[in-house]
Amino acid sequence: MKKLAVLILAAGIGKRLKSRKAKVLHTIAGEPMIMRVLKKAIALTPVKIIIIVGHQSEAVKACIKESSHAVEFVEQKGLMGTAHAVLQAEKSLRDLDGTVLILSGDVPLVGDENLRFLYESHRKAGNDITIVSTVLTDPSGYGRVLRDANGGVVRIIEDKDATEEEKKIREINTGIYAAEKEFLFKAVKDVRKENVQEEYYLTDIVEIAVKEGKKIGAITVKNAIEVMGINTRVELADAERYFRKRKLSDLMLNGVTIVDPANTYIGPSVSIGIDSIIYPNTFLEGMTTIGEDCVIYPNVRIIDSHLGNRVVVKECSFILEGEIEDEATIGPFSQLRPETVIKKGAKIGNFVEVKKSTIGEGSKALHLSYIGDTTIGKGVNIGAGTITCNYDGTKKYPTIIEDEVFVGSDTQFVAPVRVGKGAVIAAGSTITKDVPRNALAISRVEQKNKEGWVLKRKLKVQSLRPELRPRVSKLKVRKKKQK
Ligand code: UD1
Ligand code: CA
Repeated sequence: MKKLAVLILAAGIGKRLKSRKAKVLHTIAGEPMIMRVLKKAIALTPVKIIIIVGHQSEAVKACIKESSHAVEFVEQKGLMGTAHAVLQAEKSLRDLDGTVLILSGDVPLVGDENLRFLYESHRKAGNDITIVSTVLTDPSGYGRVLRDANGGVVRIIEDKDATEEEKKIREINTGIYAAEKEFLFKAVKDVRKENVQEEYYLTDIVEIAVKEGKKIGAITVKNAIEVMGINTRVELADAERYFRKRKLSDLMLNGVTIVDPANTYIGPSVSIGIDSIIYPNTFLEGMTTIGEDCVIYPNVRIIDSHLGNRVVVKECSFILEGEIEDEATIGPFSQLRPETVIKKGAKIGNFVEVKKSTIGEGSKALHLSYIGDTTIGKGVNIGAGTITCNYDGTKKYPTIIEDEVFVGSDTQFVAPVRVGKGAVIAAGSTITKDVPRNALAISRVEQKNKEGWVLKRKLKVQSLRPELRPRVSKLKVRKKKQK
């Protein structure tokens, strides 16, 4: 049986991006372009996937290796054009009897369905080569597809080599092809570099196929954006917008309210339950999951976090790798850093930062606090301005606050320290020792009131500065009357 192999071209510099980074490493919706293309290749379950690398090959390889897919890398030295790139894979495909599907690392939006359809049509028709085209309103920059009077494809002419007349053609080459292996490698060797760019163009194999009487097919993709090439940052932004729109539509069609889709940014792997409402200028990223009936208010960013059901995140909050259980409320202006667990119904309020801590069921820290390396039990109230002093400049230490503790405002816990169940911490205390269950801990200088101290001071000032006398004597009179 004939087999399928996939070849991904990813060696180019991507000059038009004007970047220090290789083009295929630029991301769309948080994922490098090359990874998107690779995923489509994997979905076709080919016998082999080969990636042609060249410019910044180490970085490209590292990016793919991280994802641990079985691919073979072939180095292209010299970057002499797309035909030259394909030729590098000849040795690796020596034993293949079948079809080579050629993809471009910079055409990242292509759908699995398009590729499956290409492969099936190619096989069914018994073609030697099948190209994929689309029709654009503005075809500039792309290779144009030239057809004969019967509609048969006869040639692809690159934009830079096209005449004014040819430039008017709106059917373009997408850079995706299926070709029989035997024909492909014979043809790429016949390609010459007599063109404006002095490169070996893969597109020339169409003309070679015509000359040799080979069977050529073409499929035309209707939704042009799916086969757009990313050559500039403008196109990168177009692709980003397309992806974002598609993800948002998908969420909306599955029961999520997106108040303003034009200003909401949700990554491809994020999931959201029904009847949740997402307000604008929200960024939900990575592997974030959000349950049902949640409300995410404006200007929130959540990365790799899990929110249960009926969670409310108020304005301007940031959550990284957090675990937030049902009915919890976060924000406005909260920061939850990694390894934070907010248990059921707990509340974190404005200007509260929580790091590597668990906030127990129904507990509250609503104003101006830092809670780090801390375990807080159920029903605890953390007063405004409470700080856990978890770091001595070298090491981090834990704070444990058991169930139903009441912490008065402006308290510092100098860790390591433990507060027993039901204890009360008086406002303004600095807690350096463990507090037993149900105890009151108070650590502040006792208040002294010095009666009449203000007036006495004023009299003293008057004796030193006579010009203040009239005002002070009035005060004296008033004081006498009171007596
Ligand atoms: C190519 C096609 C053009 C098509 C367009 C679609 C050719 C000659 N032209 O043009 O007809 O309309 O794609 O997007 O094929 N690459 C290598 N090695 C090289 C050169 C390029 O691996 O020596 C890789 C690039 O990394 C890229 C892909 O091949 O992923 C396409 O190269 P690029 O230079 O972007 O070609 P285009 O000018 O866009
Ligand atoms: Ca390109």
